[in-house]
Amino acid sequence: MRITATCVSEILERADVLEVVQDFVSLKKKGQNYWACCPFHNEKSSSFSVSQAKQIYKCFGCGKAGSAVNFVMEMEKASYPEALKYLANKYNISLEYEQYQTDEQQEAQTQRESVLIAMNFAKNHYKNLLKTHAEGISVGQAYFKERGFSPQTVEAFELGYSLPQWDNFLQTARNQQFVEEILEQSGLILRNEQGKIYDRFRGRVIFPILDLAGKTIAFGARSLKKDEQPKYLNSPETPVYTKGEMLYGLFQARNEIRKRDNCYLTEGYTDVISMYQTGIQNVVASLGTSLTEKQIRLMRRFTENVTVLYDGDSAGIKASLRGIDMLLAEGLNVKIVLFPEGEDPDSYCQKLDSIAFQAFLESHNQDFITFKTQLYLQDSAGDPLKKATAIREIVQSISKIPDAIKRSVFYQQCSELLGVSEEVLISEGNKLFLKEQDKKHKEKEQENKRTNSKTITPPFDMPDAAFDSLLQGSEMPFFENFEDNFEIPTETELLEKPEKTDKNKTEEHSFSNLQKAIRNQEKESLRLLLKYGQMPLNADLKVWQYLFTELDEMEYHTAEYRKILELYQEKLVEGIEVNADWLKNHFSTQNDPQAVSMIIHLETEKYEISENWEKMHEIVTKTEADVLPDALYKHCLRRKLLVIKEMMKETVEKLTIPLPPDEEQELLIRQINLSQINRDICQELGIVVSGRY
Ligand code: UTP
Ligand code: MN
Repeated sequence: MRITATCVSEILERADVLEVVQDFVSLKKKGQNYWACCPFHNEKSSSFSVSQAKQIYKCFGCGKAGSAVNFVMEMEKASYPEALKYLANKYNISLEYEQYQTDEQQEAQTQRESVLIAMNFAKNHYKNLLKTHAEGISVGQAYFKERGFSPQTVEAFELGYSLPQWDNFLQTARNQQFVEEILEQSGLILRNEQGKIYDRFRGRVIFPILDLAGKTIAFGARSLKKDEQPKYLNSPETPVYTKGEMLYGLFQARNEIRKRDNCYLTEGYTDVISMYQTGIQNVVASLGTSLTEKQIRLMRRFTENVTVLYDGDSAGIKASLRGIDMLLAEGLNVKIVLFPEGEDPDSYCQKLDSIAFQAFLESHNQDFITFKTQLYLQDSAGDPLKKATAIREIVQSISKIPDAIKRSVFYQQCSELLGVSEEVLISEGNKLFLKEQDKKHKEKEQENKRTNSKTITPPFDMPDAAFDSLLQGSEMPFFENFEDNFEIPTETELLEKPEKTDKNKTEEHSFSNLQKAIRNQEKESLRLLLKYGQMPLNADLKVWQYLFTELDEMEYHTAEYRKILELYQEKLVEGIEVNADWLKNHFSTQNDPQAVSMIIHLETEKYEISENWEKMHEIVTKTEADVLPDALYKHCLRRKLLVIKEMMKETVEKLTIPLPPDEEQELLIRQINLSQINRDICQELGIVVSGRY
């Protein structure tokens, strides 16, 4: 059925892109716009932006862009009408339909939609039984009451009850004209060998599993009889549900997770529900299975801090420790709370009052090193073999952390806690890290061979996984007050030959050389952007996307370049890809002849490498456009190299004054890491390392 035109325009008017996106993604305001890691592709730094003024979102990494409706369609894999329905629901707008529905329209409903409708119907069916059926009340409600769940909690999680009969749900659904095929695809009914069909969930209490939009995509059903197996019967995989891709309770928890900037991760349905009831609402469950990468990334959309809650009796703690390493590897900050013997978050929460439970969480959360140390050393009493195992386990975890600075802090802590020298730990960790990189590299090669795909991303793994975070993360102290500390030399200053008089002067000279190099490379970025910005590198990547992704958040220290770049970006946010002509035009209407001449200057800049090459060898070389992927790749590496150089310079400067040993150690480690990266980039670029730029 068609939604009426007036109703559609009301929805479009009311839907605010920021509010809509915020339900799925945690945004941070930077300047005019809001930024986050893109929910549509995997990334560790934010290139996804939302402009409230323009009512659009745009990802500079993958290029996805659009309005609030587009966002819902993309995010929920929804059709246009589905997205409208979602928004209508969010903004409490009642839908008005046109009064006819053709057969084709009915048929056109996708299988996904049909399954979702069946799931929603089932949820309401089970909820109704719990609320109104005599047995639902006497058995279902009694069970929840005994477990300490209030009627409000039961409502918030939309819990239900299924009757023990073979086909109570099936009959009800049939009466409502649901076809058996869809019910079977939804996993709500089963078929035996004789072809007889019957309900999957019988005589159990029902826990609906919701997606981020609040739609029911699966069920967990708990047995009410002691020792009946399985204790929880779950939905199978269906067109709308893949195991390990959702977190139980996330729909109810997401706003609170964002607000608290922390997420409690538990194992079970009841852990989530009890904690929610006690007032801790930033809690989700991994649903029994071991944690998956998808689930971690889902969580990371809302926060970078996770507190893992482990049952006290779980003999399987050591087996589930892999989850911690995975969280660390995805760049999350991990805390752990271990519950007393025989307790899980649900039981303990019901035992203590709300305040005592919160106090317990706060006083018992440990970082993963302390946690692992205790876990492995608790009954080893000086046994050197056990200690060695503990050390290896901890180093293994630390080596997964992508951020070099965080890593070095943890090595230090581990060294203090276990009385092993930091060097030994770091070298062990590096071995593990290299092994892992090697494995990943080989996998990638295999993958490339298999798909025979040529990508323009670097052909090598970065020497240090910290690379990205060093370049793009918040740990870039020198960027913050760069402009306060350093004067950008003017063109004439740059042209002047440096005088070599005393040592001081020489240092100044090398400093301004670095400045000059930075300025040149910034100019080169802008030149490439203006000249080739809209040129496609492959089917779904244009030059501007590549440049913005690779040089994301790398600031421009040269004000004139920054001005042009910011305008370019601003237009992209509006969904407009501008070119040099447009920019010239814009700046001339703005009465800014300097900017205009700058652009002309950039446009006419010669491609130096190819020119020299031609002169030297008197051969006709390829045009720049022919070697563009390589040129772009090398250019980005050069820019990154300069950032590293700056960081090294800064670290050395810090090291020249006396420091507490801890701090000095940390800086030294940082310097070693930086120089390793420096060497690796130089090697990739074919530059001989000389210590000077
Ligand atoms: P637990 O056995 O720890 O159950 O399984 P629980 O959460 O404490 O449940 P109650 O308190 O006895 O009711 C943890 C989680 O593992 C999954 C469920 O998601 C459960 O919440 N699980 C467990 C299953 O999917 N099937 C099972 O048979 C058992
Ligand atoms: Mn339990």
